[in-house]
Amino acid sequence: MMNRRMHLRYGRRALVLVAACVLASACSTSGPPATPLIDVPAGFPQPHFPEDNALTADRIALGKKLFYDKQLSRTSEVACGSCHLQEHAFADPRPLSIGVNGQLGKRNAPSLANMVYNTSYFWDGGVPTLEQQAIQPIINPLEMNMTLGEVVSRVSADPAYVDMFRRAYNSEPKPEFVTKAIASFVRTLVSGRSRYDRYQQGDTTALTASELRGMNIFFGEKAECFHCHIGFNFTNNGYRNNGIYATYADKGRELITEDPADEGKFKVPTLRNIALTAPYMHDGSFETLDAVVNHYTSGGQQNPNADAVIRPFVLTPQERTDLIAFLTSLTDEQFVADAKFKP
Ligand code: HEC
Ligand code: HEC
Repeated sequence: MMNRRMHLRYGRRALVLVAACVLASACSTSGPPATPLIDVPAGFPQPHFPEDNALTADRIALGKKLFYDKQLSRTSEVACGSCHLQEHAFADPRPLSIGVNGQLGKRNAPSLANMVYNTSYFWDGGVPTLEQQAIQPIINPLEMNMTLGEVVSRVSADPAYVDMFRRAYNSEPKPEFVTKAIASFVRTLVSGRSRYDRYQQGDTTALTASELRGMNIFFGEKAECFHCHIGFNFTNNGYRNNGIYATYADKGRELITEDPADEGKFKVPTLRNIALTAPYMHDGSFETLDAVVNHYTSGGQQNPNADAVIRPFVLTPQERTDLIAFLTSLTDEQFVADAKFKP
């Protein structure tokens, strides 16, 4: 049972980290301090930035313009923001994303909240940095079907862009700076101001009685959700097989490691803003949170890699309602309305 004390311990550890950064200057890279550019929520660790891409306001502004620019796709019909929608916490409400010429993708686009804290990207964790990640949708023939060279020639024709690249990177537009600017904007998408967070910070009225009961189910040994969805971002950053299939069409983590023991393992996703990011799972195969809870209570499908903690358990109708109410309390209304993330 993970009780309220343990929640607090997490919060405290995060605060210690912040303090350690300040004292040892361990977290600072050259460039301006990150805190004014990212409003770090209480209880969250200070984010880290790559040495060669410190966060600046000009880099974020350029990255945002690129993120919402359809010119980054061959047919000028698809932007990053076409599949990652702010009102859905930057996830896609379609089960599989649709790229240029109406082509159907292979996976569900996840929320981009709190990417700055991730240690790998994509459902299979195949990409280690946000700079490298930004290349993938641009060159993917099913998504934007472009080359970085062609993106550079398009933006170079626009004096506003040329000026923004100069201010951000003191350079003419170059592929390297396209991806660095996009990564900078994505790093600012930090979300941690839900009612659940207010409760963690001591506002005992922030959660309803039903949500509180649901929290105890979530962090309890019957439902066992917290074994994987844990910490300030509700993920252990690991890869797990949660038993949604007996055999997986998408091999998941095995595609990266080539280890059959990784078949059907996917990155444990954050549950922040989960009420806004339907449909669920790597393939968008669950339409509702009710369907997700049905999956977990059923114990899922037998398969050799299914995690040991995924096994059948019983929830009363009231407990099911409470668990879903708790998940809904993880919505950060400020994040999805925040003007600084809008085009
Ligand atoms: C056609 C729809 C589409 C477009 C356009 C698109 N994405 Fe995505 N995005 C996806 C899908 C689908 C995934 C999951 C892919 C996977 O796991 O293999 C994803 C994953 C990501 C991730 C990793 C999320 C995680 O949890 O690991 C990031 C970051 C991201 N996209 C940012 C961007 C950026 C930046 C752009 C523009 C340069 C962009 N996306 C354009 C559909 C799209
Ligand atoms: C063994 C680790 C593990 C446990 C325990 C676990 N999950 Fe998950 N959860 C995952 C993984 C891995 C995924 C992604 C699987 C996929 O995409 O195929 C996931 C996906 C989800 C999703 C969909 C997220 C999205 O963005 O699509 C929800 C909602 C969810 N889990 C809720 C829960 C709840 C509620 C519980 C407890 C009843 C729970 N999980 C227990 C590992 C776990």
